[in-house]
Amino acid sequence: MSAHKIIIAIDGYSSCGKSTLARELAVKLGYNYIDSGAMYRAITLYFLRNSVDFDNPEAVSRALADINLSFVFNEHRQASDIYLNDEDAEPYIREMLVSEKVSQVAAIKAVRTFAVAQQQQMGTGKGIVMDGRDIGTTVFPAAELKLFMTAAPEVRVMRRFKELYATNHAITIEEIRHNLELRDYIDATREESPLRQATDAILLDNSNLSREEQLELVLELVKDRATNRLN
Ligand code: CDP
Repeated sequence: MSAHKIIIAIDGYSSCGKSTLARELAVKLGYNYIDSGAMYRAITLYFLRNSVDFDNPEAVSRALADINLSFVFNEHRQASDIYLNDEDAEPYIREMLVSEKVSQVAAIKAVRTFAVAQQQQMGTGKGIVMDGRDIGTTVFPAAELKLFMTAAPEVRVMRRFKELYATNHAITIEEIRHNLELRDYIDATREESPLRQATDAILLDNSNLSREEQLELVLELVKDRATNRLN
């Protein structure tokens, strides 16, 4: 039995450790990790910088035509940085200003069509881990392994607080709690590809799992899917 390259789709609520797991899996497996949320964040950054009116479909289409997104591997982070029209956008896309608007932008149909087409293109060679909200449901409905991650709300708030506080001492726990709740609400109730667990996704609650435990558990699942695949 030989291991085949597969597609791993990881979806779930805001800040429940999807990207940490996805990055570690990709490093272990020699796969490509794509953070689909970074694409929606980069598009939002462009819209904010250029004062694009989100409610005007023509303005949105014109703006999308001017956006070129690409991923470039960053050795230091062991993950890819997102480039917005040849500029490394990674330092700006996690800022609160972007977080406050990204779910509104990601709910726009034209924005999703634009991002999903590129995401599907990146999966053609398999050997990819992608995390987001609609990866197992819309982007890769035939992915060999689908995970739906969740964690207790307070655990998620504190994880994100620690992450952001490292570079921004002005950030408050309340601000983060509000943002996570708002994004989860918009993401789960929007019309286009709402956040939901695919029927064949495995639910992974990592509230009480260490990073190592979580990685071990998922690597076992990968081994199973990659060796048992019929083809
Ligand atoms: O903060 P966190 O890492 O949990 O979120 P993210 O993965 O960076 O995604 C930011 C936002 O992009 C989400 O709140 C969604 O509104 C949107 N998103 C989406 O709609 N579909 C995806 N596949 C990924 C992200």
